[in-house]
Amino acid sequence: MASAKILDGKALAATIRSEVAKGTAELAARDIVPGLAVVLVGDDPASQIYVRHKERAAKECGVRAIDYRRPANISQEELATLIAELNADAAVHGILVQLPLPKHLDATPILDAISPDKDVDGFHPDNIGRLAQGRPRFVAATPKGCMTLLEHAGIDIAGRNAVVVGRSNIVGKPMALLLTNANATVTLCHSRTKDLASHIANADIVVAAVGKVDAVLAKWLKPGAVVIDVGMNRNASGKLCGDLQFAEALEVASAVTPVPGGVGPMTIASLMQNVLLAAQALTSSAE
Ligand code: GUN
Repeated sequence: MASAKILDGKALAATIRSEVAKGTAELAARDIVPGLAVVLVGDDPASQIYVRHKERAAKECGVRAIDYRRPANISQEELATLIAELNADAAVHGILVQLPLPKHLDATPILDAISPDKDVDGFHPDNIGRLAQGRPRFVAATPKGCMTLLEHAGIDIAGRNAVVVGRSNIVGKPMALLLTNANATVTLCHSRTKDLASHIANADIVVAAVGKVDAVLAKWLKPGAVVIDVGMNRNASGKLCGDLQFAEALEVASAVTPVPGGVGPMTIASLMQNVLLAAQALTSSAE
């Protein structure tokens, strides 16, 4: 039976991290150490794990991660003050506020307050707007990593039908913009989409960013489709899995990303690329 190629995000991410390390070594020769401020509010266990992974990757890449852990009961004003301080701090080239924030905080004005020049998550409206206009600066790490995976695998995007499932500001919307900029014909599906299966049946490329086990069934796929799985879920037996019905999809698709080992490591490597870009841009204009 046909078996899809498994796109190894873990290996590609390691290559990207070593490339970033080369870039930071060049900056080190000018006594510049890229600084990434990592703001973690509260004690969400998943966020703690993500932040640990980001900080480990930073170390490997020659990026100085500076930890700003704040209690869950921090006020909106206190958090805004911290962002203002980080914007003004010359040792900080990138600012990352780990999401989600505790319920009493409004993330939007916090993300808006991050200097667009230090917005390595690419969540600031300036950076989303630039992406929408096809002149990107910082691109959100997860969709950026998905594009790098597609490009590295030599998958044609121009003229292909792409379906993105999920319309979050962090993944789905920027992903749809990136694929549009790469000349795909893009359909952005979401929780109110009628007949998701019929959209997916036409897709050469599917990006699943739902956050639900079996959100994309193998029987919906067009034979030979490429599936990028952004999901990070636990199935009924507690095993880590994505949004795609993976084992069955291997018999239909031409290429799929695994979970774990697909998009996850690419997100972190892409973030490191953004930190390097920020440090390069901020230090070249200062000279
Ligand atoms: N929470 C889930 N994904 C992300 C991400 O890419 N960046 C940040 N800051 N928080 C997240």
